[in-house]
Amino acid sequence: MTMTNSQTTWDVLIDAAWQAREHAYAPYSGFRVGAAVQCADGSIYGGCNIENVSYGLTNCAERTAMFQAVANGAKEFHRMVICADTPEPIAPCGACRQVMVELAPQMEVLLINKEGKQIFTTVEKLMPYSFSDFPQQTENDEGDV
Ligand code: THU
Repeated sequence: MTMTNSQTTWDVLIDAAWQAREHAYAPYSGFRVGAAVQCADGSIYGGCNIENVSYGLTNCAERTAMFQAVANGAKEFHRMVICADTPEPIAPCGACRQVMVELAPQMEVLLINKEGKQIFTTVEKLMPYSFSDFPQQTENDEGDV
């Protein structure tokens, strides 16, 4: 694994992700996830999964962290850590990847578990060929709107 920034920086972010996981609200799945993002100015925001009895309304830890950051004025994201207590580190779901592409296309992502297994990746690798632009429609396809 090649980490482009100091180990210390990652360690702080790793701690923040585990800390955020403590707040997971997961009464339906019992599956607790933590995430933490570090922004361009060094600020760190944590997130946990927040479930709902209407299952589809569940918000993943990754989106909670990113939305928390945006709500506090963050504009640029450098790194994210995602943690769970699983045999292998977990990967973010498709919805979270789409949000990453929108808000943090250059972000580095570290997936970790309790045993200290780490998978280092990037948003670019997690979401190739993404819908990240709103292209011009062809004239024939404008419809009635
Ligand atoms: N979950 C996350 O928070 N992040 C992921 O990367 C995968 C899944 C949550 C959503 C739900 O609360 C629970 O884990 C089970 O899917």
